[in-house]
Amino acid sequence: MATFPATWLQHRPLILGHRGASHAAPQNTLAAFRKAAEMGADGVELDVHLSADGVPVVIHDARVDATTDGKGAVAELTLAQLKLLDAGIRFDPAFAGERIPTLEEVFVAVGQRLIINIELKAFSRRDAALELAVVTLVRRLGLADRVWFSSFKPYALTQARSLAPEIPCGLLYDALGIGARLLRPITPHEALHPHHGLLSKARIERAHGRGLWVATWTVDDVARAKVLAEWGIDALITNEPERLIAALR
Ligand code: G3P
Ligand code: CA
Repeated sequence: MATFPATWLQHRPLILGHRGASHAAPQNTLAAFRKAAEMGADGVELDVHLSADGVPVVIHDARVDATTDGKGAVAELTLAQLKLLDAGIRFDPAFAGERIPTLEEVFVAVGQRLIINIELKAFSRRDAALELAVVTLVRRLGLADRVWFSSFKPYALTQARSLAPEIPCGLLYDALGIGARLLRPITPHEALHPHHGLLSKARIERAHGRGLWVATWTVDDVARAKVLAEWGIDALITNEPERLIAALR
């Protein structure tokens, strides 16, 4: 049975760095995750894809073009090819040489210090390769009580749940996420992850009444964060963890 460990909520809301502390370092890199830890974030959110040779790697898009100096689909590049790319220089030349990390590298770097919300960027209903690789890694490193999954794809959460019944799942959706909302009744989840613009106090209270957590994104505005905190939000996912920590703690 998946439940969020009570120890996670030493303070509510949890403050998680979105793709790490992605305002201060290139998103989804070890530099961004380490910065989030240094800032005192409770955890980080990150995005995971599979390389061509089946390794879970941490990058947002299905292609490398936007955040690296390379071109191509992550799923068509081997880990060795992905590791040749510079994932820092587009953000700031000061970060030149930063690489796309494997999920394992992130776990080793910050897995004992930070809670990690793993967004499964899954693209196939038929194939659970991504979920299987991630679950295998989480278990090998003994981090099942340090992570939770989320996805916009209900089938990814269904696959994750069948492989790892003990790990909580969050259902992501935004205003256009009709599919996710329609499939909500049959999708395993212990948390809702709506865009913050969809939230109201009543919606958070309704979710809590059903025993669900509510985690929301991407909240960089301090005034908005304070309102969400007053409404009882469980987790705020932000590009600027240090600002929210300063305002809310
Ligand atoms: O998990 C919250 C948020 O990251 C979802 O949207 O596009 O930033 O992955 P996106
Ligand atoms: Ca994400």
